[in-house]
Order: sequence, then structure tokens, then C-alpha cells
Amino acid sequence: MPPWKQAVHINASCGGEGVCGKCRVIIEHGSVEGGITEKLSKEDIEKGYSQACLAAVRSDLVVRIPVESEVDISVLNLQKTPRRKAKIWEMNLEELKEKGLFMPPVEKKYLELPEPTPQDNLPDVTRLISFLKAKHDEHRLVVQLPVIRKISDILRTDDFRVTATLARPVHSGRKTHIINIQPGDTTDRNYAIAVDIGTTTVYSQLIDLITGDALASYGEYNGQISYGEDIISRIIFADKPGGLEKLHEVVIANINQLIKKEQGSF
Ligand code: FES
Repeated sequence: MPPWKQAVHINASCGGEGVCGKCRVIIEHGSVEGGITEKLSKEDIEKGYSQACLAAVRSDLVVRIPVESEVDISVLNLQKTPRRKAKIWEMNLEELKEKGLFMPPVEKKYLELPEPTPQDNLPDVTRLISFLKAKHDEHRLVVQLPVIRKISDILRTDDFRVTATLARPVHSGRKTHIINIQPGDTTDRNYAIAVDIGTTTVYSQLIDLITGDALASYGEYNGQISYGEDIISRIIFADKPGGLEKLHEVVIANINQLIKKEQGSF
């Protein structure tokens, strides 16, 4: 299994071009082919060092990642003492919403829908959309496929009392998506994950959208480091066959790992 799949990062400043020598590892058991350039001294080679990016695996291996090739994750979650203080003005979001000055990007709406009858036999999706329009003044709505798949069961779980989660468009003129539907009134629970994907680190916060509190924060080194320390190296790596997919895959793995940690902190 490649190291990044186990969240083991190896420094790779040049993105696997074989020129930086930062990806040195020690092959303790097993055999590899290649992986030796002028970046390694005679002593290094005798000790079993290899450049991970150039070594082709020829058997099962036991590999030691020396400290100089590792990234140190422990420094990421240290709370730094702020150098400056910022003033925060508390705003009444409900008031701003009423004045049309603030539109939450993700919002839950509670609905009590009438049950279908032979005279009122609207399809479930149409019933949901028309009541969101009538009761909450929501327009230009699109229902996502996972919602369509479960809407019929959810509506009947709590006598047609449901909560719909709406994701509003970033650009005006686009449509609002109904991204979830839950039985009953769950408007008092609304959470979001904010993610900052940086070149070096990926930070994430679990936010309570009702109170605005950050409930948990975690950081990870961006797994893409293993494919290039700087953006240019990663652009070059992305051009290789399968490179772009790999960069995408590792950053998604990063985000999922952070979400798991945040879930686990409750
Ligand atoms: S030499 Fe292996 S990543 Fe640079």
C-alpha cells in the first residue's frame, strides 16, 4: 500500500523528479531497483538509503522513513499566541436576514405538509417544492438525486413533517439546491465543515451554524507534499499520467480524515 494511503508522508520537494534528494528512505528488508543517484553518498548507500521516488519495488519491503524525510504533524495543532487582537462586532443575523442584507449559504426550513388525498395527489417532490415556495418564499429550487431517492420514506416517517436543507448559490442567478431532507423539525441542529486547503497544510473547523461557534478544529499536512513541496512541482506532477487524479485523491483523503477527527471529538 502506498505510504500516503496510510497517512504516512515522505518529503518530496521536487515531486518525484529525482533531483531534490529529500525522499530518502532506508530499505531494511526486501529489494528495490534503482533509487540511487549522486544525491546519496557511498555511506548512505551502504546504510541502505534509497530515493523513494526512483525506487521500483521488487518484493515485500520493510522501509524506515528517517526523521529528515518525515513531516512532523505534531506542530500543526499548536495554538499560537495571537500577535494582534481583532475587534469583533456581533451582528444580529436574523435582523440582517429580514432586511435582505444576509442570506445564509446553507439553511434548514421546517415544513408541515398536507398528506396526499385523491383530490390532492401532487408528487412528493412537487409537494415539497411548492410548499417551500408558498411558506418560505424560496424560488428556483433544484432537488438533488439523493433527496429524490429518500423523499417518499422521509415524508411518511413523521406524518409529513420534514426539514429541508437548502444550499444557496454563490453566484446570483443560479439555483438553490435542496441537499437534504430529514423527518421532523431539526432546525436546531445545523452544522458545517469549513476547510482551508493550503499548499502545506489543510485546516478544518466544525462550525455550529446556529450559534456560529467553532466546535472542533484540526490540521493535517497536505498529502500533496509527497508529490511536490511547491505548486510548480505539483503542476508538473499533475501532468504525468494519473498525476492529477492522485493529487485529488490525497487531498480528499486529508479532508475525510479531518472530518473523522472532528466527528470523534464529540
Ligand atoms: S528526489 Fe525523490 S522526491 Fe525529490
